[in-house]
Amino acid sequence: MDNNTLLSVKDLRVWFELKRWGFLSAGFVRAVDGVNFELSKGQAITIVGESGSGKTSLLRTILGLTEPTGGEIVFAGRQIDWRKSSEVTWLRWQIGFVQQDPYGALPPFMNVERILREPLIINKVKPEEQRQRIREALEEVRLIPVDDFLTKFPHMLSGGQQQRLVVARALILRPMLIVADEPVSMLDASVRVEILELMRKIQRDYHLGVIYITHDLSSVRYFSERVFIMYAAKLVEKADVDDIVQNPLHPYAQALLNAIPDPEPENVAKFRDVPPGEPPNLIHPPPGCRFHPRCPHMMEGLCDEQEPPAFEPNPGHLVECWLYDPQGSHERSTTVFQTMADAKLARQEEQSAKDASQYDKP
Ligand SMILES: Nc1ncnc2c1ncn2[C@@H]1O[C@H](COP(=O)(O)OP(=O)(O)O)[C@@H](O)[C@H]1O
Ligand code: SF4
Ligand SMILES: [Mg+2]
Repeated sequence: MDNNTLLSVKDLRVWFELKRWGFLSAGFVRAVDGVNFELSKGQAITIVGESGSGKTSLLRTILGLTEPTGGEIVFAGRQIDWRKSSEVTWLRWQIGFVQQDPYGALPPFMNVERILREPLIINKVKPEEQRQRIREALEEVRLIPVDDFLTKFPHMLSGGQQQRLVVARALILRPMLIVADEPVSMLDASVRVEILELMRKIQRDYHLGVIYITHDLSSVRYFSERVFIMYAAKLVEKADVDDIVQNPLHPYAQALLNAIPDPEPENVAKFRDVPPGEPPNLIHPPPGCRFHPRCPHMMEGLCDEQEPPAFEPNPGHLVECWLYDPQGSHERSTTVFQTMADAKLARQEEQSAKDASQYDKP
């Protein structure tokens, strides 16, 4: 970690205990399970993963809203001690939060001015400075003319305006980091791009760190620095955006990229398969690599038994998959599957050939 590091997350685990009859332990949901990454000042990263992969749990922990089960978070050089509530509160106010559902995130009984004033009062910003900061934040998110918006209540704003207000509130304490949890997934398609572009502009203008979470890989280009692919509570691939888009390495990332609708009309029918199979159960995750029950390249005796560590086949491109073990003897390029359906078919054919050969035995 150097001076330029804003956030460092080490071996972070967030497990939720399940209770039977309210008191008996019935196991744990391993929502985040061994996550490592660093974010530099002013850097934007996108975390992509399907629903239930642990994205929100990871964000809530970074925000100080959920206590981790293990691992550590270092923010602006300070390692958070979760036993000290003052430190957790400090962390919470260092980071701006843009929630998924803007209407749910805004108190319905407060007007715009009051909503923006609240964090300033709590953080003891001088009254004479508050008014100026509120106006600046509204101008920044283009809720103008400011005087028209100050007295409005959340229900009087459109979905896009509500999310602009949430962004203004996230910015008002001038944080070094903004985390955004699927900020456009509940908005109309017509306003999604303008909200993402607004956030990108603010990130660049203020040299802010941003962690942007989405289940939609096609929106990563708006925060186009680094992308992490989350699968079953782990970051299975970490790379610069061009490397992920042009050369995804993890079979899950390859399947996700196959699932992006292609803008070329003749390709629309191709590459549409999502990874087949159920997302894993986080109470009893599959042993070994968590993707192995869905993986077309699964190697028996290895993938289903041993968890892959992170390998770095190209500088800065990390992947948790045994195919990239430099010591491995397996052939990486045995079959290039166009789609996951081809992969499934190939495995079924292989299995039928095995079954048939059993009958051939004397
Ligand atoms: N407070 C909680 N108590 C128990 N389980 C939880 C809690 N919060 C999240 N989970 C579980 O953790 C897993 C990951 O959830 P979440 O972090 O919301 O994923 P995502 O944001 O990727 O959809 C899910 O199985 C979810 O049910
Ligand atoms: S480790 Fe094995 S099962 Fe997991 S993604 Fe790689 S090849 Fe597939
Ligand atoms: Mg979520």
